[in-house]
Amino acid sequence: MSKRALVTGSAGFIGFHLCRRLLAEGWQVTGLDAVTPYYDVALKEARLDRLREEAGFTELRGRVETPDLLRELMGREKPELVVHLAAQAGVRYSIEAPRSYVEANLVGTFELLEAARAHPPKHLMMASTSSVYGANTSMPYRETDKADTQMSFYAATKKANEAMAQSYAHLYGLPTTMFRFFTVYGPWGRPDMALFKFTSAVLKGEPIEVYNHGDMMRDFTYIDDLVEGIVRLSQAVPGREPVGTADSLSPVAPWRVVNIGNGQPVKLLDFVEAIEAATGRQAEKIMRPMQPGDVPATWADATLIEALAGALPRTDIRDGVRRFVDWYRDFYRV
Ligand SMILES: NC(=O)c1ccc[n+]([C@@H]2O[C@H](COP(=O)([O-])OP(=O)(O)OC[C@H]3O[C@@H](n4cnc5c(N)ncnc54)[C@H](O)[C@@H]3O)[C@@H](O)[C@H]2O)c1
Repeated sequence: MSKRALVTGSAGFIGFHLCRRLLAEGWQVTGLDAVTPYYDVALKEARLDRLREEAGFTELRGRVETPDLLRELMGREKPELVVHLAAQAGVRYSIEAPRSYVEANLVGTFELLEAARAHPPKHLMMASTSSVYGANTSMPYRETDKADTQMSFYAATKKANEAMAQSYAHLYGLPTTMFRFFTVYGPWGRPDMALFKFTSAVLKGEPIEVYNHGDMMRDFTYIDDLVEGIVRLSQAVPGREPVGTADSLSPVAPWRVVNIGNGQPVKLLDFVEAIEAATGRQAEKIMRPMQPGDVPATWADATLIEALAGALPRTDIRDGVRRFVDWYRDFYRV
């Protein structure tokens, strides 16, 4: 009998790619997503259309914060792997609409934890973010670094999710891995993120807004490399023994946080150059100050993930950007 997984946020950028990978490996995958209008729902529907072509995929629509929805679903299906990716994402939008982060990220994650308490999977995995490192300046970011100064409400809700999950892991013995993702990009990517916005503008001959006058660095992570990291980490179920000195394992619970990043930060202007090379067009840049909630740099220390999952593939930014631009031109026929 094939193994059963539940992926929340399956119509989203990362959830879609993860579902495809699990299905290709023979898993039965149930995907729950509310297809929220935070960005173009046609893109989410197009991702779901692809997933529906797979026999092992079951689609469910609903909000994770709906009382008992997840508890009933997990009681019915008893997934051995649960990957919770549904969330209200985005740093900037959390300044405009903080309540949606309370509902999706705080209440939604609470409902997921309650469901896992009632029907424990073998491994519960959840998305956090590099944004939890906030005002930290010591680079690269290590999971064991203190991370108490979030710069946006989005990041604060994700830090809260880490703490909520740690307490459930402790109280109910739920093996839990929290991922801290670092600026994920690639085909089928998110319209609210820089690569999508810049590519779209450059292809239309419109200017792009470059924040902090271009003095930014991001540890961009190519989607296939990230999914490889998730799949390998799914085998590294947290127990009671730390794996080496870099482990963030809780002293009281089978719970850890793990960075999934490329480990090689890229300067924003080099990133723009990669878009120019892939599109064959010059970008007209408008320099802007730093945006509220944002941080100038992110850089993942990969020691822990390498100890748990081995060395991961690291797609070069120029190749990854070219694959995104090829997808974008094909999908939007431009
Ligand atoms: N993409 C990145 O660079 C990045 C970086 C750090 C962390 N993350 C985290 O990874 C996860 C996946 O991110 P993504 O880039 O795929 O984002 P995404 O917005 O493309 O995917 C999230 C999905 O969740 C769904 N959703 C939102 N609120 C919901 C709710 N209340 N109930 C049910 N479904 C809901 C949305 O419809 C969407 O399809 C998120 O938790 C995000 O915070 C992403």
